[in-house]
Amino acid sequence: MKKIVVIGGGYVGLVSAAGLSEFGHRVTCVDIDNNKINQLNDGKIPIYEPGLNSLIESNCKKKRLYFSVDIEKEIKESDIIIIAVGTPQKKNGEVDLSYVKSVSKTISKSINKYKIICTKSTVPVGAGKMIEKILLKNNDITDFDYVSNPEFLREGSAVKDFLIPDRLVIGAKSEKAFSIMKEVYRPIYINETPIINTTIETAEMIKYASNAFLALKISYINDIANLCEEVNADVHEVAKAMGQDGRISSKFLHPGPGFGGSCFPKDTLALVQMGKKFNYPVKTIEAAIAVNQEQSLRMIEKIEYLLDNKISGKKIAVLGLSFKPQTDDIRESSATKIIPELINKGALVNAYDPVAIENFKIYYPNLNYFENWEDTVKDADVCVILTEWNEFRGIDLEKLKLLMSNPAILDSKNILSIEKLKKLDFKYENVGRKI
Ligand code: UGA
Repeated sequence: MKKIVVIGGGYVGLVSAAGLSEFGHRVTCVDIDNNKINQLNDGKIPIYEPGLNSLIESNCKKKRLYFSVDIEKEIKESDIIIIAVGTPQKKNGEVDLSYVKSVSKTISKSINKYKIICTKSTVPVGAGKMIEKILLKNNDITDFDYVSNPEFLREGSAVKDFLIPDRLVIGAKSEKAFSIMKEVYRPIYINETPIINTTIETAEMIKYASNAFLALKISYINDIANLCEEVNADVHEVAKAMGQDGRISSKFLHPGPGFGGSCFPKDTLALVQMGKKFNYPVKTIEAAIAVNQEQSLRMIEKIEYLLDNKISGKKIAVLGLSFKPQTDDIRESSATKIIPELINKGALVNAYDPVAIENFKIYYPNLNYFENWEDTVKDADVCVILTEWNEFRGIDLEKLKLLMSNPAILDSKNILSIEKLKKLDFKYENVGRKI
């Protein structure tokens, strides 16, 4: 059992803290946000993430998981310090490391014996060295090991991804650090999960290379889907056949309105900035970003086509505001890119999402929000599906047609049956399936 402090109570910090306590460690998750910590101590989880509530509840009951704002005290009392603070994007696309820097300074002031200082936040290559410098500059104690341990969990399946990962990546300099980290992840390790022990720089690069590759795969299939529309091919069959090839794999080959979320858009841009800094333009990823930006504009064109090029004054029902199902996170979601454009063009927007409405309202308070899809589509001129929530997959198309003033639909996630849409005389659009 190790004493661990996780600094940062966001998606990565909270899930990591809960997951590590589930592995049997005594974990405190600290955050400067008093409100958030009070909520957590009252048993309220600030994010929607399947399975997280019960994991937190059971580990708090077993007295293995705690929440606090007293960062310095927790640092002093811990064997392992995990940095999981936000690394937002600067205007120029680079990563803003100010939170990481300030936390590193706090750690250096409070370190009192040998500790592992481990970064889980996604930080550009070279950040580890920078953190080590800060730690050494402000402290007499040099007896610590710095570890880079990037996290690969996805929102919406974060708990499962943390507890049963595909691989663990540990970047460190000493055998002592590797063996302590192996102990931290012992339950995973004994399940024969591959552990990659490597250098700090390589670990940092693995994270960016992995995320950017997945983003590239999505932009690639979106490119192919757009071409399929021109040549009357079905992108689903193309992707399915491609996926049969083990070298390609069927994962992340689902076409749509473009990737969003707090990671892919930010990490692809950061990789491009890294390339520029080191005078090596990463052209594949530059192209993936460009395709992604154009993909949401294509959705606007499709909506225009469905409305005979007259958006102004039309009622548009948008289903799905989060960047993907099973999350209330709206960062860089398709809805955040498409809805403002529709409003600029004079549309009246009705909006619905099973869990993300409250988050969306913060930024877009003036839309017409509804509590179910039925009320949202009532008298609408077009229905636009932007997130593949299960309740939209199973939508009753006959009922939908009856409720709308005009049966037109953009299925940007390709979740509806084309046969049924045709049978019901819907005017429809999708991505890559003009069959
Ligand atoms: C992503 C990675 O998948 C995680 O491994 C990583 O840890 C995380 O970023 C991170 O760096 O923190 P996440 O952003 O939570 O996870 O969600 P994904 O499931 O990867 O989806 C990202 C976007 O790609 C979504 O907008 C999704 O709709 C889109 N997507 C995904 C597609 O358009 N097509 C696909 O085939 C798959």
